[in-house]
Amino acid sequence: MGFKVTPWEVEGEVDYDKLIKEFGTSPLTDDILERVKKITGELHPFLRRKIFFSHRDFDWILDMYEKGVPFAIYTGRGPSGHTHLGHMMPWIFCQYLQERFDVNMYFQITDDEKFMHRRELTLEKTRHYGYDNALDFVALGFDPEKTFIFSDIDYAKTLYGIAVKIAKNVTFSTVKAVFGFTNSTNIGMIFFPAIQGVPCFLPSELEKRKAPVLIPAAIDQDPYWRVTRDVAEKLGYYKPAAIHNIFFPSLEGPSGKMSASVGQSAIFTVDTPEKVRKKVMNAFTGGRETVEEQKKLGGNPQVCTVFQYFYFLFEPDDAKLEERKAACKSGELLCGYCKKELADRLVIYVREHQEKREKAKKVLDQFLLKD
Ligand code: TRP
Repeated sequence: MGFKVTPWEVEGEVDYDKLIKEFGTSPLTDDILERVKKITGELHPFLRRKIFFSHRDFDWILDMYEKGVPFAIYTGRGPSGHTHLGHMMPWIFCQYLQERFDVNMYFQITDDEKFMHRRELTLEKTRHYGYDNALDFVALGFDPEKTFIFSDIDYAKTLYGIAVKIAKNVTFSTVKAVFGFTNSTNIGMIFFPAIQGVPCFLPSELEKRKAPVLIPAAIDQDPYWRVTRDVAEKLGYYKPAAIHNIFFPSLEGPSGKMSASVGQSAIFTVDTPEKVRKKVMNAFTGGRETVEEQKKLGGNPQVCTVFQYFYFLFEPDDAKLEERKAACKSGELLCGYCKKELADRLVIYVREHQEKREKAKKVLDQFLLKD
């Protein structure tokens, strides 16, 4: 079956090994994971479980770090709506990296991109969502001394000076080939890859040193780094390094990335407990038609979104995850019960997150860069 991955749409069942080849990235090897473990102590479950599975030059980032040259972390958010758990995967990972490596973190809000890309969105809306989404980011526990958040619109003066240097070195035929732009693409979007490239170089400007930059992000954002890497050295910067995660599962089935526009397929950070429970109870599972059949034949955790939720975020203990899998396959653990367990955990998680999110409102200003 075919699949398609671009920064704006993901379709079909993604074959990640094939994607590594198509994009020209490298698999995250056990060697690299060993090196990370030496520095950080315990490995994050996202690394242990290969949820972060691919990279560009992450080994070089570690080389530099070991030589005493700290890297900066860069990630971002296109604010087209509320934040869901899929958006937070790279952010959770960034927080772990910041804590373990004690490094600076830069977070770009592309309110310009989402406005230009989505016909129905006004600039007021994307800017509003931008700061709303930033609360979810701050709620994850970043260090206010070392974390810098900016909206493209509100920090445009600083960003623009670097963007034009990138833009001058990228042709229309390159972005057409990389992003699939056509003659009917608006010219804002054609320029936009230059803007998303800027934070790869911003740490060098702000920190007044040639700074290595590591970008944790879902693999669909990789085309931007390909373009930015091509111009980096010409402009006197290091090529940005990247580490890529696979897509968080949609509650509606095992194909593709979760969409912020489809309310039922994702858990949003602003969802009420009732909403969370309802979505989990309606989730696509690997269960059989009837309870009798399931008791006899067992379920299929491989295709089950409920199991995937445990795997991604809600069962960090490997042994317990294996127990759950075995119990499902043997027919002993039925979907209704398993869903209820997940819903209970999710409700607690979302409630705790919302409390932190409330607190983030008071401190958000400390994190913001503005012109
Ligand atoms: N384009 C991204 C989106 O639509 C937002 C973004 C900007 C981003 N800079 C980034 C994502 C860096 C990951 C890493 O969501």
